[in-house]
Amino acid sequence: MSIALPAHDPKRRAEAWARFDAVADRDRDVRIPELLDRETGRVERLTLAVSGLTLDLSRQAFAAEGLEACLGLAEACDVGDWKRALFNGAAVNATEGRAVLHPALRAPDGAHFEALGEPVSREVEQVRDQMVAYAEAIRAGDEVGATGDRFRAVVHIGIGGSDLGPRLVWDALRPLDPALDVRFVANIDPREMAEALTGLDPASTLVIIVSKTFTTQETLANAVLARDWLAAALPEDGLRRHLVGVSAAPDRAEQFGCGRVFGFSDWVGGRYSLWSAVSLSCVIGLGGEAFRGLLAGASAMDRHFLETPLAYNAPVLMALAQVYNVEGLKRRARTVAPYAHGLRRLPAFLQQLEMESNGKGVTRDGSAATRGTGPVVFGEPGTNGQHAFFQQLHQGPEVVPAEFVVVKQTLEGRDGAPLWSNALAQAEALMQGRSIEAARADMIDQGMDRDTAERLAPHRAFPGNRPSTTILMERLTPETLGALLALYEHKTFVEGVIWDINSFDQWGVELGKVLAKRVLAAAHEGRAPEIRDPSTRSLFGRLV
Ligand code: F6P
Repeated sequence: MSIALPAHDPKRRAEAWARFDAVADRDRDVRIPELLDRETGRVERLTLAVSGLTLDLSRQAFAAEGLEACLGLAEACDVGDWKRALFNGAAVNATEGRAVLHPALRAPDGAHFEALGEPVSREVEQVRDQMVAYAEAIRAGDEVGATGDRFRAVVHIGIGGSDLGPRLVWDALRPLDPALDVRFVANIDPREMAEALTGLDPASTLVIIVSKTFTTQETLANAVLARDWLAAALPEDGLRRHLVGVSAAPDRAEQFGCGRVFGFSDWVGGRYSLWSAVSLSCVIGLGGEAFRGLLAGASAMDRHFLETPLAYNAPVLMALAQVYNVEGLKRRARTVAPYAHGLRRLPAFLQQLEMESNGKGVTRDGSAATRGTGPVVFGEPGTNGQHAFFQQLHQGPEVVPAEFVVVKQTLEGRDGAPLWSNALAQAEALMQGRSIEAARADMIDQGMDRDTAERLAPHRAFPGNRPSTTILMERLTPETLGALLALYEHKTFVEGVIWDINSFDQWGVELGKVLAKRVLAAAHEGRAPEIRDPSTRSLFGRLV
């Protein structure tokens, strides 16, 4: 059954964009510190507490009227209807004719989600229960390897959405000294697999192959390496006990030799799949309770997103800040700095989530996108990034909006202030800056002679006025992590709605895959690749 997508009203959209452009043009040079002084209650208005997270958007660049224009845009682009369409299981991913229903994966038992009119919640619950039961059996030592050994290590093989989410979850929540070692392999570079297998005993190692399609070149190559490694040490008839598949194509996983296969549906996008059995390795490593906590945190964010008016809706406001930066101020990049070692892979996760979702050149109807679409996203954990690229954030001519994700307590019983005080200081410095006069006066106050102070002042001045958002949480728990990741997912979706693009396909990764196959076949067959470009042919000649 097809559920209608929201109607498109080009005239209404154009009017809202015109108003947005006019306000953004007028306010281009507004200074954020002045907004904080001038707009009474700005911090309170732009601080939201949602599902264990506190978001402060008050240091974004929109003035009150700019925010109104952004909200007008969200209304005119029917964000409310689109979010309902997503939760109702309409074919939001229109180029592939698919529903997009990751919220169904994290809904509590008893939910009634439908994909294209077909009920899905019961099946989701069944697979979830089976997966958690299997994980708990491994943790308890009831499910053992071919030689009767307890499983002590899990090697998770997958790439892109089949890697980044689970890897982040494991890094964020893993105990310091886990009873079960969980290792990840994504790259087709055999070095990564060799590193992952080092020190492991095949008799106590479970290999989990995660691939939505079960056709991905890197994952299949790594799966073969791991299967060979197991086969060299284990009895042939026991191999299947050590190979688990997670896929939307379970037949292929079984054919490969997986003894257990957990499925998921095509309405789960790869980069939105960590809520499914794709995270089996984390469930084994962390336990079912932690996984259910992760789902509960995300589900709370789903409810907030669905039920809260646009003006106070966290993912919507985050998306509008980004649209304002990209469209209003032409800021084509954004940096994300998680101040928590456990979130060190968050920038990598967001790169796929945001750049694969919204890095598009055409709108929903196939016409060229005249608006920017998604910016470049990059980042490093704080404080490491401060000693690398923050110089450019502070003084470079390109203004890069920043996002600080701050965890108050990263390690039980330890003082978190040295970490979080840095985040606060960076956001403040980016916004306030320091004038040449202030820089000069500071140096003279510290005893420097006037001539030297004059010469150095331009080098030691900061333009300031660089927007940022801060997201705070007390601790990194399954619940707060789930809420954070769901926040980003919905933010990405809202941006796609405003830019009028399909955030759920990824045709842009296909061409490179096809060409890679051609080059590889030529290398293996010892002939020149069927590629005309002389540069590729010349490099091929040097490598083959
Ligand atoms: O890189 C493209 C992509 O298709 C991603 O969207 C996906 O997450 C990844 O490859 C892995 O795909 P699969 O899970 O099918 O192996």
